[in-house]
Amino acid sequence: MNQPATPPASVRIVEVGPRDGLQNEKTHIATADKIALIDRLSATGLRSIEATSFVSPKWVPQLADAAEVFAGIARRPGVHYPVLVPNEQGYERARAVGVEEIAVFTAASEAFNRKNINASIDESLARFAPVMARAKADGVAVRGYVSTVLGCPYQGAVPVADVVRVARALFDMGCYEISLGDTIGVGTPGKARAMFKAVAAEVPLAALAVHFHDTYGQALANILACLEEGVAVVDSAVSGTGGCPYAKGASGNVASEDVVYMLHGLGVSTGVDMDALADTGRWLAALLGRETGSKVGKALAAA
Ligand code: HMG
Ligand code: MG
Repeated sequence: MNQPATPPASVRIVEVGPRDGLQNEKTHIATADKIALIDRLSATGLRSIEATSFVSPKWVPQLADAAEVFAGIARRPGVHYPVLVPNEQGYERARAVGVEEIAVFTAASEAFNRKNINASIDESLARFAPVMARAKADGVAVRGYVSTVLGCPYQGAVPVADVVRVARALFDMGCYEISLGDTIGVGTPGKARAMFKAVAAEVPLAALAVHFHDTYGQALANILACLEEGVAVVDSAVSGTGGCPYAKGASGNVASEDVVYMLHGLGVSTGVDMDALADTGRWLAALLGRETGSKVGKALAAA
């Protein structure tokens, strides 16, 4: 008999705005503002904040100041500040400024990986092997991303079996958590649920996270479908910023404010102060010269 679908009692939000949000911004953002954003986010009760990215500055100039940003933030005890690392060079740059948690990233689609990291899926996994070995020796925790889990801007449909294979490979390499990314936000709840269930049959549920972009307005519905399948870690970006520079058409991440509002409404605890988060989202939007991308942020301001 099917069990009634109930979300978990608590969810950890992984705030990706300072990285996934800002990597795609055309507006120049001063290093001091990036630091202020992360420090504001740290004060909201968030426990995981992806701070920046040590990728090639030729590929993502927006985050070329990764070292300065990381060195400048006030790290709060109990808060994790993972950073994106594509290779050993990125690992060394990150470690030089005291990074203690990293995220490696690959995709379920060959075509996307080629555009995003200039490597096939298997080449990318091989590139991670020495990074994983060094991280293990250094006591650095590693998160793993699988992109294009519900569709690819170049290849179109992505078979679920490919998502499962890559997620499993990252888990087997030693990633403590695997984030399943709908990079271009094309997923719908039925497909998101089926994909998530297939991965959860191969990778422990406690090691899974979901990462939705809201291009087609489906992100909250997709998150709810995965919550009903037991996911307890959700990635989101304050003010709904973001997109991937190598994923044509990818729009913002689901807004953290909207996710937190939905979770609290469901009786799921997050530890996040809704008002402080919404304030930060509006502060960031003002910095970027636009309205907040969070419906909840807007509604709270008007209330
Ligand atoms: P490549 O050009 O094949 O690499 O890029 P290379 O090893 O030939 O290096 C080329 C140049 O970059 C060299 O410099 C290297 O030194 C330098 P040159 O000799 O020409 O002066 N370089 C670096 N510099 C600083 N830090 C480094 C680094 N690595 C090389 N770490 C590479 C391969 C992976 C480096 C490149 O393709 C890259 O950086 N790609 C990153 C693209 C990216 O960041 N995309 C967005 C993040 S993924 C995403 O958003 C999806 C996600 O949110 C989940 C989802 O939504 O699905 C995670
Ligand atoms: Mg993303």
